[in-house]
Amino acid sequence: MTALSGKRILLVIGGGIAAYKSLDLIRRLRERGASVRCILTNGAQAFITPLAASALTGQRSHTDLFDREDEADIGHIKLARDADLIVVAPATANLMAKMAGGHADDLASTVLLATTLPILIAPAMNVRMWLHPATQRNLKTLQADGVHVVGPNDGAMAEAEFGPGRMAEPLEIAAAVERLVAPSGPLAGKHVIVTSGPTHEPIDPVRYIANRSSGKQGHAIARAAAEAGARVTLISGPVTLPDPPGITTVHVESAREMLQAVEQALPADVGIFAAAVADWRVANAGEQKIKKKDGALPNLSLTENPDILATIARRTENRPPLMVGFAAETEHVIEHAKQKLARKGCDLIVANDVSAQTGVMGGDSNTVHLVSTSDVETWPTLSKTDVAKKLVERLGAMIEGGTP
Ligand code: C5P
Repeated sequence: MTALSGKRILLVIGGGIAAYKSLDLIRRLRERGASVRCILTNGAQAFITPLAASALTGQRSHTDLFDREDEADIGHIKLARDADLIVVAPATANLMAKMAGGHADDLASTVLLATTLPILIAPAMNVRMWLHPATQRNLKTLQADGVHVVGPNDGAMAEAEFGPGRMAEPLEIAAAVERLVAPSGPLAGKHVIVTSGPTHEPIDPVRYIANRSSGKQGHAIARAAAEAGARVTLISGPVTLPDPPGITTVHVESAREMLQAVEQALPADVGIFAAAVADWRVANAGEQKIKKKDGALPNLSLTENPDILATIARRTENRPPLMVGFAAETEHVIEHAKQKLARKGCDLIVANDVSAQTGVMGGDSNTVHLVSTSDVETWPTLSKTDVAKKLVERLGAMIEGGTP
């Protein structure tokens, strides 16, 4: 048994110089036990031949939408169905734009539009094309559509330029394929919901109430859970961090939107609520921009936001069996965390001191205490990435051990 035994991959090869690496990708996927079928775009055939792809896959390669033999033999709809995953490598700027816009003017784009299979793209293009707002917009659209992305990497490019745009290496793409179709690790097969970042509560259409959360800890947890094999839904308030690769990221602004997104993402095996949700929102938020008037201050009245963690944890139906909350405190950290555990009804609280001198808010390291009903454990100061990995390891062990 190899990692991808019995898995069927449809590899769409786009027209870029990185197409030569896709031939190596075929070998890497087959080494892992997958069967591979290829579609080459017209552009791809300027760089490699269908014959080369067929020789490596051991199967006929496909190129034309209206090929009589193809349609009699397998047909584009069957191509779009008969696989476990579609990999697009290299995903050129043009192919990404076509996918984002729902175009179907050749075999590759038609199959990509007709499919309901998971899709992984490995973008590859000139650095300026990658950084162009149009490509970045298309990337966001594709990610919002649930398309998984691996790379691109930084590096020297064919045109003697340097920067992001190089296709991920075949081994990296093969690893991303494994994570998607044959996840392994302590959270394999589990669905994990993570909330992260601050919320913005509108005062009027241009002003809002916010807090200093950067989302670094929550995003690191989402990444660690995905690396541990979980299918992760990250529900993020407004942050400046990129969406982590291979993770479904849902962007929200306010606490109420965050609660709605969590409810939509359920059911889950684990819920990790790392977001710094605003406790209050403005009850009388203006529909128009509140105008400055001489001497008169606006009268904002606050109302309580829903407590997302408590709302979900207190449910009898659809409650994730393992629920983790965070407690950001500036004093009596452990005592407050214990009270929070009981009040919110979750299974574990990760408590930390966020008083200004600790530099935790927005910083890269964190000193946390794990508080459960039976135990308090203090971890040494670690990077947020390491806190995330250790927490995910612990959750894996708790699930394995049948606790809670
Ligand atoms: O009550 P406090 O804000 O300190 O609780 C922190 C924990 O509760 C965190 O896990 C946070 O994500 C969650 N929380 C929430 N909804 C709120 C407030 C906090 O999910 N409205």
